Amino acid sequence: MGQVGSIREPKDRVVLAYSGGLDTSVAIKWLQENYDLEVIAVAVDVGQGGDLEAIKEKALKIGAVHSEMVDAKKAFAEKFIAPALKANALYEKKYPLATSLSRPLIAKILIEAAEGTGAVYAAHGCTGKGNDQVRFEVTMRALNPDITIIAPAREWDFTRESAIEYAQKHNIPISITKKSPYSIDENVWGKSIECGILEDPWIEPPADAFTLTVDPMQAPDEPTYVEIEFEQGVPIAVDGQKMNLLSLIEKVNQIAGSNGFGRIDKVENRLVGIKSREIYEAPAALTLIMAHRELEDMTLTRDLMHFKYAVEEKYADLIYDGLWFGPLRESLDAFINETQKVVNGTIRLKLYKGSCQVVGRKSPNSLYDRSLATYEADDTFSHKAAEGFNKIFGLSLETWGRKYRK
Ligand code: ARG
Repeated sequence: MGQVGSIREPKDRVVLAYSGGLDTSVAIKWLQENYDLEVIAVAVDVGQGGDLEAIKEKALKIGAVHSEMVDAKKAFAEKFIAPALKANALYEKKYPLATSLSRPLIAKILIEAAEGTGAVYAAHGCTGKGNDQVRFEVTMRALNPDITIIAPAREWDFTRESAIEYAQKHNIPISITKKSPYSIDENVWGKSIECGILEDPWIEPPADAFTLTVDPMQAPDEPTYVEIEFEQGVPIAVDGQKMNLLSLIEKVNQIAGSNGFGRIDKVENRLVGIKSREIYEAPAALTLIMAHRELEDMTLTRDLMHFKYAVEEKYADLIYDGLWFGPLRESLDAFINETQKVVNGTIRLKLYKGSCQVVGRKSPNSLYDRSLATYEADDTFSHKAAEGFNKIFGLSLETWGRKYRK
């Protein structure tokens, strides 16, 4: 490698999933020094906030040969969040999978960048302890089996201090803003907050852990009512105002967050065997899943709903495990999409000081029949038929009781 006369041998290239943070910034230099590669930095906007143009520039300043910023917010909402919402996907019944869902999309964009620039390597900034390394790598290999993956943060032995030293030695700008005491990953579907004091599962999360939700005690003294309209399982309007899914999620994040709804505190089973304490903020995700479930209660038959619960758990697990680009997800999507044809209607929610409750529902596909449900005089339910139903339904237990109960 290196110079032959004045003709420079072309170097191999690596695409790096770049966030602008300390680790991936250090990774640019580290990949050049340790692998002698040209680095192509790719920043993906999934709604994490921050100045992404500045991040793109920063990669060039550090020494990337090329830097891209891909606005993937709309694709994230429509291609990843919408299917997850139709599946009411909650990992371990609590976590709406914001971080997990973004990884296959970022990995896909990285692979596209590699293919577009002739890079044969792809790199990410994850350590060896988390789920994200698995999601990135499983996805990239599924989409391009020939890619070689490098995980600098799994190879180097920097501490935070030595990484800062390395950065200073190589003139890598470190953001002057005070570093959060937590490890954070954020996108439009929610925010994951880890590390620092949160590693003690007995300690209540300090106020500064939260940025998307107000403290419920500080929330308005009057409730906020909000109406969410769905079409085939996807929300299409808030309070009668139609909007695209991305804008709708942003709006619901704001409404629910300002009422202090959307905080999650859980101990979670990572794929790599570790239990970790996780704090999440997911105001829109929790609100929309609650509303969506409620509409399914109105429109799906009992057997279908009960069967779908099992599918939902499987779906959440496969997102968590990084198996998005696989045949199980595609097959489950086929089933779920079939179920959603009738999931049309409007759910009315009441948000108040950290709580969210369904207080009304209506649907053109409602299976709720008041004349069957009522206890008033216009009841159409056959009480006579119920007598025979009970007799037959209870027959096996009656037989058992006759034999064994004294
Ligand atoms: N435990 C969550 C998950 O596995 C959140 C991970 C947060 N990632 C991060 N790099 N801080 O999806």
